[in-house]
Amino acid sequence: MTPLYSRDQVRGAVAVLRDVTEEVLLDKLRKDFVANVSHELRTPLSMLQGYSEALLDDIPSTPEERVELVQVIHDESLRMGRLVRDLLDLARMEAGHLELYFREVEVDSLIKRMHRKFTVLAKERGITLSAVIPEQPLILEHADEDRLEQVMTNLLDNAFRHTGEGARIAIKAEPAVFKDHPAIRIEVSDEGQGIPPGDLPFIFERFYKADKARTRGSSGGTGLGLAIVKNIVEAHHGSIAAQSTLGQGTTFTLMLPCSPPE
Ligand SMILES: Nc1ncnc2c1ncn2[C@@H]1O[C@H](COP(=O)(O)OP(=O)(O)OP(=O)(O)O)[C@@H](O)[C@H]1O
Ligand SMILES: [Mg+2]
Repeated sequence: MTPLYSRDQVRGAVAVLRDVTEEVLLDKLRKDFVANVSHELRTPLSMLQGYSEALLDDIPSTPEERVELVQVIHDESLRMGRLVRDLLDLARMEAGHLELYFREVEVDSLIKRMHRKFTVLAKERGITLSAVIPEQPLILEHADEDRLEQVMTNLLDNAFRHTGEGARIAIKAEPAVFKDHPAIRIEVSDEGQGIPPGDLPFIFERFYKADKARTRGSSGGTGLGLAIVKNIVEAHHGSIAAQSTLGQGTTFTLMLPCSPPE
């Protein structure tokens, strides 16, 4: 706040108000890291313990009930495996220890491969999956193909999770300019449920889930996918942004420079 003087007298004041809600929330999210990790690990662990104890105590009375319990143990152990892998990935990235194997990457063939990888799922879900790439090859001189595949897999996994039957998901790649240099723009867009505007600024934070009411189980994520995506994209000196309209769909736009900065 600054006073407004007229000669010696204060005639008024100029006040600048800054909305810090977002900053405070971001800070809280980061501090909650340990609480989140222990919650995410403890929940599947206690299910594994509870259900295996029930089996040991011969609680299920029919073979079907027994199979049901084993199925839960199996699903939860897979889920925990994924969580541990994601957590280790993220910890390595944030400590700056992520090892990237840079070489020339043909983005057009990567996109074609991703399209093939998700075709079966699209058929099962009644979703139209399309891939649009230009005639000429799209080359990144210095990129880690496996990590870029991880980025695309996470984005498509999200798109499928939040898009219903009969809707479309599209992948598009094209030449672009990023920070005055040649780049490749990749878009993953869906016609799904969209992300509420209030959640949009936080989705790249670890453990952030916009749809909090979502049920657990194979479809329930932990909120690490986009944090990992962002880390990988930034390690490639690129950028990622999300645009979304509630009830209409979401588009993630990636920019990757064709050659590393000098
Ligand atoms: N395409 C999308 N449509 C609607 N909401 C999305 C989309 N992509 C991400 N979100 C929202 O952003 C949140 C964060 O996504 P993120 O991939 O980081 O976590 P997750 O999918 O919940 O879990 P994980 O990826 O770790 O299995 C999601 O929980 C979801 O609410
Ligand atoms: Mg995800």
